Amino acid sequence: MTAGVLAGLTPPLDGKPLRWSVGTRPIPVNQWLNVDSTRHDTMRAKDAVLDRDTAGSVITTPAGVQASDALLAAICDHLTAWHSVEFAVTNGEVVDLESGRRTLVDRTKPLETVARMLPQDFCVLTPSADTWRMTAATVCFTSRWNLESKIGLTIGEIHGPVPGYEQRVAHAVDHVIGRMDDGSVLKRSNWTLLDTPELHLREPARSTAPTTNIEKLQWLRVEHQALRRFTNPDALIFTIDTRVRHIGDVPSVDRQRLREAVRTAPADIAAYKAWPVST
Ligand code: HEM
Repeated sequence: MTAGVLAGLTPPLDGKPLRWSVGTRPIPVNQWLNVDSTRHDTMRAKDAVLDRDTAGSVITTPAGVQASDALLAAICDHLTAWHSVEFAVTNGEVVDLESGRRTLVDRTKPLETVARMLPQDFCVLTPSADTWRMTAATVCFTSRWNLESKIGLTIGEIHGPVPGYEQRVAHAVDHVIGRMDDGSVLKRSNWTLLDTPELHLREPARSTAPTTNIEKLQWLRVEHQALRRFTNPDALIFTIDTRVRHIGDVPSVDRQRLREAVRTAPADIAAYKAWPVST
């Protein structure tokens, strides 16, 4: 059993060899968007990415236009219903009442609006044949991948570089998604150890020199991911709330558990993560 900062994280930290797991659990809709005071620092980091590279951080294809508009409307409704202490929402703008940040609600650019309003990243998936395709997204904090290379792809194709995804989790992911109905929200939180606190990592690990020394993996990156289903229009919203903390701030028992999981990770996962490959 894991407790404290590692509770509920995936891949599981249970002393067994590292392996992918779906790890989704249902949450009430009011917990869809976690709003806390770390958002102000995160928004500064996001602004920097958006200012540098809007084209690479916000992409909408024609098939994703309607669902992106529905996402903006759903976020405004959600903030009004559940976060009125932190945000004031009018037809024309959303004001963060703690920081004073004002975001103009531009219905012609829904994902640009969302990107500047909240710290989370959002992927919009729409149905395509018998699967889902990412037809629009705003992702500033990619974890060793980039949006241009994934936009328009199906869930299976998106996970193409993930070793063992197809064999271990693809079927379970499809099953979990297939059972979602309107408004249902699922959450999962995955972790990795990195040698950088940088939130915006565009280069795939396979083109990054692997870390040779486990001691250099000083940063615990946790992505709290939520899946929310819309049915009108039909869409799946994948939300990523990224948190990075220094390993020194993690209790030593947890630090050891994380490092042990990295040290004993199967070679294909270690290579995918650019972790040291155990001998
Ligand atoms: C329950 C649903 C899902 C599960 C179980 C799942 C699982 C995973 C796993 C195990 C990895 C590799 C571990 C890692 O990089 O941390 C991964 C990577 C990734 N996932 Fe998912 N995922 C899910 C849904 C999604 C959705 C809906 C999207 C976006 C539309 C997405 C986008 C990605 C991307 C972009 C990567 C990195 C792939 C790369 O390295 O190129 N995932 N996912």
